[in-house]
Amino acid sequence: MDREKIIGKVENILEKDKDKESKLKDICILLHNEVHGYDWVGFYLVEDDELVLGPYVGEPTDHTNIEFGEGVCGQAADREETFLIDDVKQEENYLSCSPKVESEIVVPIFKEGKVAGEIDIDSHEKEHFGKEDQKLLEGIAEMVGKIL
Ligand code: SME
Repeated sequence: MDREKIIGKVENILEKDKDKESKLKDICILLHNEVHGYDWVGFYLVEDDELVLGPYVGEPTDHTNIEFGEGVCGQAADREETFLIDDVKQEENYLSCSPKVESEIVVPIFKEGKVAGEIDIDSHEKEHFGKEDQKLLEGIAEMVGKIL
């Protein structure tokens, strides 16, 4: 993975004269296309104290509204920290979107010190996400926080 190249492409997307939804969708498409194993890539945005599904690429999910504390997404929002799940089958507080998913990373996006959204990525491979992914996605989350 070429982190600098991806970050550069995210910068280009964010500078475009497009609405927020289109920019977030373009970031999903970019990550899905550029990084092997990023099989479902989406944003959740905080609205009325819950996580609401925003732009995404991948299979449709039933989990369009998630309470803080619920599932991996809700835990990451509640604890205000990145969650890396090596094997979702071992995670008790987990909301399944597809039986194909084996591992997951959820990165909070902060705006003015508060969680305003999240980047959520699922992989069909076990233990797919590591420190490199965390660094890339926390960098992107910081950039996206400025447009939320
Ligand atoms: N697996 C997540 C739910 C979102 S889907 O992966 C798209 C969770 O446990 O919160």
